[in-house]
Amino acid sequence: MFACGNNRVSQRPCQCSLHVYHAAALCIGAAFSPVNAACLLELSPPRVVVRFGDSLSANCTSSSDQIEGMGWESPYGGVDLTKGVTSLPFKINSVPEWAIEPMCYTNSRDGDQCTEVLPVTVYKMPDNVSLKNLRTVEEGQQFAIQCDIVNVAPARNLSVVWHKGNKNLSSQTFDESSPSNVSKSSVLTLTAHRDDDGAEIWCEAKLNLWPQEQGPPPARSEAHTLTVLYPPTFIDPLNETLELSAGEKMSLNCNATGNPLPSYHWQFPQAAQETRKNQDVNHPIVTQPFEFPGVYTCTASNTQGTVTKYFTVNKPPGIGPGAIVGIVIAVLAVIGILGVIYYKSKS
Ligand SMILES: *[C@@H]1O[C@H](CO)[C@@H](O)[C@H](O)[C@H]1NC(C)=O
Ligand SMILES: *[C@@H]1O[C@H](CO)[C@@H](O)[C@H](O)[C@H]1NC(C)=O
Ligand SMILES: *[C@@H]1O[C@H](CO)[C@@H](O)[C@H](O)[C@H]1NC(C)=O
Ligand SMILES: *[C@@H]1O[C@H](CO)[C@@H](O)[C@H](O)[C@H]1NC(C)=O
Repeated sequence: MFACGNNRVSQRPCQCSLHVYHAAALCIGAAFSPVNAACLLELSPPRVVVRFGDSLSANCTSSSDQIEGMGWESPYGGVDLTKGVTSLPFKINSVPEWAIEPMCYTNSRDGDQCTEVLPVTVYKMPDNVSLKNLRTVEEGQQFAIQCDIVNVAPARNLSVVWHKGNKNLSSQTFDESSPSNVSKSSVLTLTAHRDDDGAEIWCEAKLNLWPQEQGPPPARSEAHTLTVLYPPTFIDPLNETLELSAGEKMSLNCNATGNPLPSYHWQFPQAAQETRKNQDVNHPIVTQPFEFPGVYTCTASNTQGTVTKYFTVNKPPGIGPGAIVGIVIAVLAVIGILGVIYYKSKS
C-alpha cells in the first residue's frame, strides 16, 4: 500500500494523511476534482472494465503547456514522474486486485498539481452457475428453486435472470459493496401448475458492465425440466349417452391427461363383459360394435386421483327384439292371408 503522494514531486503539502492508497486516492479525487477541468488532463480510455488477471492500459494526456512533468501513481504499474512529456502511458500486464485506482498526475511549472483517477472495474465471470432444490412437485404446491452463482465480481453489477421456456420470469440484483469475488444465490418461488409440466427452467448470471450485447455472454445454469404431478382430467369431461346401431363400431372415449399417465379401467354391463373377456381394457378409447345396452363405466386413475365417466348405451327406439318379433308376425300373417286367398281362388 502507498502512503499518500509518495511518488509525487509537489511543493504543496499533501492533503491526505491516510496511509492507505485506496482511501488517499478518493480523498485527493474529492479535494482536487473541481480543479481537474482547468488541469486539462484527459484519460484515454476515460474508464476501464477489465477482467481479473487481464492486462490494463491507458494513456494520460495533458493539453496544458505549463506542465513540467507527469506520472502515474499506483501500487501496480506506477510510472515515476517523467519530465518533458505531455502524454504518458500506463500498463499493468495482469490485473492482480479487485480494487485498483491508478491516478495520473501532472506537476506544472508554478508548482500546481493536477490529478485524475482512472476508474477501473475489475470483473470475473462466475466459475459455475447451477440449480439446487430440484424435485418433482404436486399441482398447487409452492416450491422454491435456488440458483447458485459461484465466484463472481463485482456482485453489485450482477443480475440473475430466471427463464421458463421462452419466458423471462424475474430478475434479481444484489446490494454488495465489496468489489471482490463472491458467491451469490437467487431463489425463485413458484406455485406448481399443470401447464408447467415438462417446461424447462434455468437461470442466467450476467454482469451489467457493458452496453447491450457487448462483453462476455451470460453464464447459464443447466436447464431443469419441471415435473408437476396432477390428477387425471378427461379431455371430454361429460358423461355420454349413445345409441346402439347394429353392426356399426362406436368409440367410447375416456382419454384423460394426468401425470403420471393415467391408467384406465372399464366396467361393462354383464352381458357385454362376457363377450370381451380376453380383451385388454387398460386403454383410454374402446372402439367396437357394442351389442348390449347398459352403462359402460370408465375409470382413469393415477397417484394423484381417480375420475369416472359414464357412457349410457341405449337401444334405438323401435328396432329392438320386440319390434322384430312384431315384423316377423306381420310378415307371417301376410303370407298366411295370401295363402288363404290363393287356396280360396284355386278351389
Ligand atoms: C496510448 O497511446 C499510444 C500512443 O499514442 C497508443 O499507441 C495506445 O494505443 C494508447 N493506448 C490506449 C489504451 O489508449
Ligand atoms: C455497477 O453497479 C453500480 C452500483 O449499482 C453502478 O453505480 C455502476 O454504474 C455499475 N457499473 C456499470 C459499468 O454499469
Ligand atoms: C356423470 O354421471 C355420474 C353418475 O350419474 C354423476 O355422478 C356425475 O356427476 C356425472 N358427471 C358429469 C360430468 O356430469
Ligand atoms: C389422448 O389425448 C392426448 C392429448 O390430447 C393425445 O395426445 C393422445 O394421443 C390421446 N390418446 C389417444 C389414445 O387417443
